[in-house]
Amino acid sequence: MTHKPLLATVLGQRQERPPLWIMRQAGRYLPEYREVRTRATNFLELCYTPDLATEVSLQPLRRFDLDAAILFSDILVIPDALGQSVRFEAGEGPVLDPVDAGSIAGLGKEMDPLDHLAPVLETVRRLRAAIAPDKTLIGFCGSPWTVATYMIGGKGSPDQAAARLFALRHPEAFAALLDVLVKTSIDYLVAQLEAGADVVQLFESWALNLDDAAFASHVIEPNRRIVAGVRARVPNAPIIGFPRGAAGNLARYAQETGVNALGLDYATPLDFARTLSPGLPVQGNLDPLRLVAGGAQMDERIDAIIAAFADRPHIFNLGHGIVPETPIAHVERLVARVKNR
Ligand code: CP3
Repeated sequence: MTHKPLLATVLGQRQERPPLWIMRQAGRYLPEYREVRTRATNFLELCYTPDLATEVSLQPLRRFDLDAAILFSDILVIPDALGQSVRFEAGEGPVLDPVDAGSIAGLGKEMDPLDHLAPVLETVRRLRAAIAPDKTLIGFCGSPWTVATYMIGGKGSPDQAAARLFALRHPEAFAALLDVLVKTSIDYLVAQLEAGADVVQLFESWALNLDDAAFASHVIEPNRRIVAGVRARVPNAPIIGFPRGAAGNLARYAQETGVNALGLDYATPLDFARTLSPGLPVQGNLDPLRLVAGGAQMDERIDAIIAAFADRPHIFNLGHGIVPETPIAHVERLVARVKNR
């Protein structure tokens, strides 16, 4: 038995009111985050400085009655740890020197990626010591396909065309890239769980724009291998999968990857989500822009989401990350409503 309501929900135990956390809950909508951010020369330095990363992970819990802290880091620390150049340019998002068919074999050969990620694991240990016993500590990584879209394209893109074409034109190099990402992600998630994470989430933020054959090979298979690989070393490790945009592939993703709980994006119809296998824990799925706009529309949608999942384990969350424009008062109102206060 666990006294952590959010962890218990991931493990399949429905709670009276859904526990909640907010995707990207540490971030620019908080003035105290923006203040700490100025103390690091760049975004990756913030991720690799345990003092600062611990502080920003804890900030949202000081303000709001959330049920989980999430490790402050980024999905792109893995390419960085594999030796690819990764930069975050203000107003532009991430910029990487793209990998090509020739450079993939060299990834991770110059240093042990886990040595490079040691400061992130130190942050997990500090968070474990700092949070209250009823709070769940969430670790994470990006899923291989999502991380590969940035590694191949060199930046975010609306349709992931560069990565989709690369997979078709260079199937062997692409398979080798997924292999190195699967292996590194397993090592990294096992290390996070050993450092004190209660649950880990796989962020498959670009599970859209794939035909069903590509979805099976790029999304389901690598996620399945990570789940199996982590559980081979940490038996029964609790894992949330968030395949954003999976739409008609959602049920397959849940069944075939073996994740404990399924993150739902905000475009997932509630009626459809209710047809997912009974008892499957779900997480989601308020549109982050409803939180920006606030008011009665937000309250009504929160109630509709809670009602839709009243008969299964449900973790309340947004259907994608909170955006910088979000008013703090609206987050307070969301938390109060979910907690029925
Ligand atoms: O509070 C938390 O959720 C923990 C920290 C966290 C960050 N990124 C911090 C961050 C987490 C879990 C992520 C995941 C992440 N990173 C994803 C998956 C989730 C999603 O939103 O789809 C993706 C695709 C990334 C890659 C990434 N990192 C992008 C595209 C960007 C630029 C866009 C943006 O939101 O700014 C980042 C930068 C980033 N990661 C910031 C933060 C707080 C903002 C950078 C800054 O403060 O200067």
